[in-house]
Amino acid sequence: MSLKNFIDSLDGLLGEAKQSLDSVTSNDQLEALRVRFVGAKSGAIKAVQKLMGSIESEHRPVAGKRFNEVRDAIQSALDAATVRLGGGGSQLSDGPQIDPTLPGIRPTLGQLHPITQTIEHLKDIMGRLGFNVTEGPEIEDTWHNFVALNIPEDHPARDPLDNFYLATAKKQVHNPADRDAMLLRSQTSTVQIRVMETQPLPLRIISLGRVYRPDAPDATHFPMFNQMEGLWVDNHVTMAQLKSVLRLFATSYLGSDVHVRFRPSFFPFTEPSVEVDYWWNGNWVEFGGAGMVDPNVFQALGIDSEEWSGFAFGLGVERLCMRRFGIVDIRDLYRSDVRFLRQFAS
Ligand code: DAH
Repeated sequence: MSLKNFIDSLDGLLGEAKQSLDSVTSNDQLEALRVRFVGAKSGAIKAVQKLMGSIESEHRPVAGKRFNEVRDAIQSALDAATVRLGGGGSQLSDGPQIDPTLPGIRPTLGQLHPITQTIEHLKDIMGRLGFNVTEGPEIEDTWHNFVALNIPEDHPARDPLDNFYLATAKKQVHNPADRDAMLLRSQTSTVQIRVMETQPLPLRIISLGRVYRPDAPDATHFPMFNQMEGLWVDNHVTMAQLKSVLRLFATSYLGSDVHVRFRPSFFPFTEPSVEVDYWWNGNWVEFGGAGMVDPNVFQALGIDSEEWSGFAFGLGVERLCMRRFGIVDIRDLYRSDVRFLRQFAS
C-alpha cells in the first residue's frame, strides 16, 4: 500500500470518528462507537494498523507517526464524549444521572454535649441576674480548696480518701495539711477565694466547672462532675436576697411551678448555711448548698466583715441537666455514646 493511501484512510477514519463522536447522544451509542473504532479485536484502528505491514519500509516511520497521532486523537474524542455524557461509560443507562428533586444528604454535624448546653444556659440566666462569669483552675492548692474556706486541718473533707491529691514530680504529698499540696479541686468554692483575692468589691460572680471526688460511680455519683458556684459580696447582702436569686434562677431554668426550700445545714465557709432543695415530681431533691459568707473567710482575705457581707451557693450542674432532659443515670452523660447524646440536640 502506498503511503498516500494509508494516510488518506487514516484521515478519513479520524474525520468519521470525530463526526460521529461529536454527535453521539447516549451511552449505548458511545459504547458502539468505542467498539467500532478502538475495539481490541476488530476495531477500525486495529484494521488500519495491520495495513502498516504493507508499506515500504522507508515510509514506515512517517506512517507510524501519523498512525499514533490519529489513534490518540480518536481516543481523546472518545474521552470527551464520555465526559459529556456523564462520565459513566457503558454501565450507565441513558438519561440524566442525578435526580435533582431528591432531598439532599444531610451532612453529619456535631452538637454540644448536654452538660455544655446546660452550662451555657445557666450562664445566660445568671448573666441576666447580673452575675459575671469567672473561671478558676481545676488543679488547686490546699489554701484555695480548704484553708481560706475555713476548712480546718482535721476536717474530714480534707481526708486523702475523699480527695484526689496529686503526687507531683516535685513533691510527694503524704500530708494533705501541707499548704503546698496540690489536688484536683473538690468544689468550685475555690473560685470564691480566687475572686476575692483579685477583684475589687462589690462583686457578683458565678463560676462553672469540673470538680473531682473519689466516689464510686453509680446512678447519682461520678468521680468528676460540674458545679455552679455563685458569690455576691456587697455592703448589705441578705439571706432573703439569696433565696430570691435562687428562686428566680430555679423558675427561669425549671419552670414557674418550681418551689425552693432551704434546710439548715453546715458548711465551714458559710454561716448560716443551708441545703437547697427543689420540688421535683412529688419529692424534694437536693441541688446544692448555700449560705452567708462566714466572717472567717473574709478575714482570711483581709476583708472587713463589718463593712461587707455576702452570700454564696454551689449547685450541681449534672442534677440540673438531668432534671431538665429527663436523664436518670449520671453515667450516661459520660459514656461518650453518641446514640445517647444525640437525643439532646441543641
Ligand atoms: N462547696 C459545697 C460542696 O461542694 C457546696 C456549697 C455549699 C457551695 C455552700 C457554697 C456554699 O458556695 O455557700 O458541697
